[in-house]
Amino acid sequence: MSVLVTGGAGYIGSHMVLGLIDRGEEVIVLDNLSTGHAFCVSPHAHLVEGDIGDTALVERLIGEHKIDAIAHFAASLLVGESVREPLLYYANNTARTRDLIEVAVRAGVPHFIFSSTAAVYGMAGQEPVREDARLNPMSPYGRSKLMSEIMLEDASSAHGLGYAALRYFNVAGADPQGRSGESTFNSTHLVKIAVETVLNKRPGMQIFGTDYPTPDGTAIRDYIHVSDLIDAHIAALDHLRAGKGNLTANVGYGRGFSVREVLDVVQSTTGLPLNVTEGPRRAGDPPSIVADSDHLRQMTGWTPRYDDLPLIATHAFEWEKHLSRRNHQG
Ligand code: UFG
Repeated sequence: MSVLVTGGAGYIGSHMVLGLIDRGEEVIVLDNLSTGHAFCVSPHAHLVEGDIGDTALVERLIGEHKIDAIAHFAASLLVGESVREPLLYYANNTARTRDLIEVAVRAGVPHFIFSSTAAVYGMAGQEPVREDARLNPMSPYGRSKLMSEIMLEDASSAHGLGYAALRYFNVAGADPQGRSGESTFNSTHLVKIAVETVLNKRPGMQIFGTDYPTPDGTAIRDYIHVSDLIDAHIAALDHLRAGKGNLTANVGYGRGFSVREVLDVVQSTTGLPLNVTEGPRRAGDPPSIVADSDHLRQMTGWTPRYDDLPLIATHAFEWEKHLSRRNHQG
């Protein structure tokens, strides 16, 4: 049996590949390398360059490699871009996921793990947010992911597909062994931008909004180490394989840090100055969003190992330095 990881050359997908390989699974990666990088894919996985919309290819891979689970990460993920290009998001995220689910059902793949997001909640109005909170995504990105969750639920009812939809909060950090990390150009993620800035890859950065109703006026998020996020996926996979039923669960630590707190931690852990200015709010940003992850813990026994913001910043920084050396060497 093996696992098909779509988007396995991307930030989160490449860590999933490592997590699976580390426990001795056979892994097939399908990635069109539009934003992912082949160098992030473990050499122990089998990388196929192709598109998840190529259903004939997906079906062939499932048959050839006896796939028993699909972990689906391939997606577009920029909230702002999704507002400008909604149809692109409904094509890449919703329509392609529909096609992938159809192939999975047709080929008899029993398990499907889906990369969902806290963006399905929008302004949750509940803190920390539980899975039964109102689902009111504020962007086409969030809606495109929520539609995929709904399709999985329906496909499960009609065809028996087992699925786990994991709603990520703010994923940050990098593989503790330095094998992968966020390598996206023009990332919009706070921790990544901060470590790029201390390394002078950016001339400076801004705090987006200092007038939020939070203790220091900046927005609060639940930053989770990418390796803990992957442990949650592995726990979900074991849960599905053990026949314990479908799972829709938040993945976060249940505690928030403000933008200022994150930037202070980046400066203190790297020992480098950060050129920061204060700017206006970014459109669509909620003041605070923190996960209640009790459901995941109770259903799967998931226990985080890296719930430590300085460690998250350190791993992100180490990866950023690795990228600099890599680019330097050409
Ligand atoms: N921020 C800054 N300056 C920057 C970048 C970010 O102040 O240069 C702030 C943002 O305004 C926000 C916080 O840092 O308050 C975190 O921003 P990120 O862009 O890192 O993350 P988001 O919370 O906006 O987005 C994350 C995921 C999305 C997901 C969303 C759901 O990255 O994929 O959570 O809430 F949709």
